[in-house]
Amino acid sequence: MQTKHFKLDPNNIDQEIIKQASSIIMQGGLVATPTETVYGLCANALDKEAVSSIYTAKGRPSDNPLIIHIATKEQLLQLTNNVPPIAYKLMDAFWPGPLTIILPKSDIVPYDTTGGLETVAIRMPNNNIMLELIKNSTPLSAPSANISGRPSPTKYSHVVYDLDGKIDAIIDGGACTYGIESTIIDVTTDTPCLLRPGSITVSMLQSVIGDFDIDSTITANTVLQETPKAPGMKYKHYSPSASVTVINGTQFELPNYINSLAKQLNDNNKKVGVLSTSENVHLYDTSICDVYDLGTIQDLNTISSNLFAGLRYMDYLNKDEILAEGITTNDEGLAIMNRLVKSSGYNIITID
Ligand code: TXA
Ligand code: MG
Repeated sequence: MQTKHFKLDPNNIDQEIIKQASSIIMQGGLVATPTETVYGLCANALDKEAVSSIYTAKGRPSDNPLIIHIATKEQLLQLTNNVPPIAYKLMDAFWPGPLTIILPKSDIVPYDTTGGLETVAIRMPNNNIMLELIKNSTPLSAPSANISGRPSPTKYSHVVYDLDGKIDAIIDGGACTYGIESTIIDVTTDTPCLLRPGSITVSMLQSVIGDFDIDSTITANTVLQETPKAPGMKYKHYSPSASVTVINGTQFELPNYINSLAKQLNDNNKKVGVLSTSENVHLYDTSICDVYDLGTIQDLNTISSNLFAGLRYMDYLNKDEILAEGITTNDEGLAIMNRLVKSSGYNIITID
């Protein structure tokens, strides 16, 4: 397939391009476009065939449901018949923004979108390109625009690498602000439950709705015993071609430990890349590894926005092994470490 490539400035949107992209969507096609979290692969959420072509393009298991993206609260009321007061509180506080809310689905939502579930995941993204696309077409089902299992795309070049030739169009709208996928909260149960951590943090949610449950698999640091409540969270995820090891320890002991590990791997003819916080970047021995600067530990948003790009960069350098500094699990660190640990397949070393 010949993929069309468009370029859009989110602050000065060319409506002619939005029209072309919307028309591709309304004809059942697939368009990748940036959101504030990661690039999404969009299709008409109410068109079964269009939705099923998302699964084909990504190589995604069919029991892994999709998030529906809306631009107005009226659209919400087409997709669900039951919005509890707590959901309104969350929407008022965080929409448009990186929060997905699980609600009971209405009849017009195809089971192809929900992976056979009676519930539907909905969010209103905070990105002008995506919002314009929805306003000019329909609510959009959009998973991250990567081949299933790979790190989510946070730049146009990542989408091109994974999906060029497999989808109808890709919109270059610049880099994504947050860099990790939306927080997901289920409000269909008596006590709400956090299913995926993201940039809307636990304490931000608590300040609006009080206490809620946290799916136990989110904080798991070992191979999972239980099945996560968000079906997609059980699959191997966010993984580059290189194998990833996460090293936990204090900021000060990490460089020495990682340097000696890199040396051992190097002696075994492995090419090593290190994902480092800015504070430690200059402490690595660049004769045995390449180092990617994730950003300062003082600014977790910068680290989240660089994480997937860092993993993909090491593949670009053809590394065999990625050694990643573990960081705090406080605030946005919970989401960052959730993605990093999963990208490693739970391959974690904790320095004694
Ligand atoms: O930030 C995001 O959420 C990005 C952008 C493109 O919006 N999208 C995204 O989609 O991350 P995806 O498909 O990569 O992840 C969707 C997650 C999966 O873990 C899936 O299992 C879960 O949402 N999910 C979807 N519908 C669900 C439902 N009804 N119940 C529980 N989990 C659900
Ligand atoms: Mg994904």
